[in-house]
Amino acid sequence: MKVLIFCILILGFVSSCLCERWNINAAPTKNNIYNVVDYGARGDGVTDDTQLKGKIVAPPQKAFKDKSSWIRIQYVNSLTIDGTSTGRIDGFGSTWWPCKSCRRPIALSFHSCNDLTVSNVRITNSPGGHISINGCNNAKFSHMDVQSPGDSPNTDGFDISSSKNILIEDSNIRVGDDCIAINGGSSYINASRLACGPGHGISIGSLGRGNSYETVEEVHVQNCKFTNTTNGARIKTFPGGSGYARKISFEQIHLTNVKNPIIIDQHYGVRDVKESAVKVSDVRYYGIKGTSASDVAINLKCESCFNVVLDQINIVSSQPKKKAQSYCKNFHGKIGSTIPKVNCN
Ligand SMILES: *[C@@H]1O[C@H](CO)[C@@H](O)[C@H](O)[C@H]1NC(C)=O
Ligand SMILES: *[C@@H]1O[C@H](CO)[C@@H](O)[C@H](O)[C@H]1NC(C)=O
Repeated sequence: MKVLIFCILILGFVSSCLCERWNINAAPTKNNIYNVVDYGARGDGVTDDTQLKGKIVAPPQKAFKDKSSWIRIQYVNSLTIDGTSTGRIDGFGSTWWPCKSCRRPIALSFHSCNDLTVSNVRITNSPGGHISINGCNNAKFSHMDVQSPGDSPNTDGFDISSSKNILIEDSNIRVGDDCIAINGGSSYINASRLACGPGHGISIGSLGRGNSYETVEEVHVQNCKFTNTTNGARIKTFPGGSGYARKISFEQIHLTNVKNPIIIDQHYGVRDVKESAVKVSDVRYYGIKGTSASDVAINLKCESCFNVVLDQINIVSSQPKKKAQSYCKNFHGKIGSTIPKVNCN
């Protein structure tokens, strides 16, 4: 177990290699309070424990040079970050959110990191997505607290791409966009015991944008709660794309006032139907219960769906006197016991 390279780039105000214990005076916040970064690492090539005890606050928007990410950790193996319950990362996103057309940085991004363990980190108010995981193999995130206002734009909780063996467990994610977005090139992604909401739910995709070939497989979401989210379990693909989203399960999900609790949308972004579509197959929805804020609780807008199974589903409308409905198109699979009933003939 060695920390091979341990570089942390806190873009905007400090750019350094963490090779010993650091005490960094961060930029002042708007109240002229200095926040101290107290980020400990031995970096001796043997020890792999890193504790984040203090609070890291981003500088305001105008101080940023790199708009893609704020804290970036890359090319690191066997890194452990433990927030010890007092560690906080505050992206100070309120200075960015009013500008809808701005490119807004991701607060914490992991790129090409293997064997990563992150726990007990509280991360709030990211300008853009909170945590991105790209090109990583074998990472576990647990007891994370990710929080931004429900109306903060494009503030995904976790954004996973081109990565495998990623676990996200026992965490709270309250954001303005996807709780977790699982993008192309990802496999063996498990999300368990999460509380999501507000936000846009857990999304696979969108895949196949601009007629691209993209693949996602072995995604398993279980024992999660969605509250006031605009989607629950979502798979979205663009018409004209190719590739697959397969071996996916959503099991034991509890819903409270969720719009689009179960949705496969293969017409994402556009209305027209094209000849090719990302193939969606071997998908299982099992034990999904609670209330829907939209009329259509189960929405299977397929172009290329095979072996999709729904069973033990019980979703009622969250509005009194309304009845939850379902929609189904080009569906190939098996409908077990579901409320509302799904009629795919
Ligand atoms: C991921 O979830 C699947 C399905 O529940 C399970 O078989 C697998 O063991 C899980 N993987 C890990 C590493 O927890
Ligand atoms: C969900 O939304 C309802 C109605 O807007 C609100 O009363 C409730 O506090 C929200 N719940 C959570 C956990 O945000």
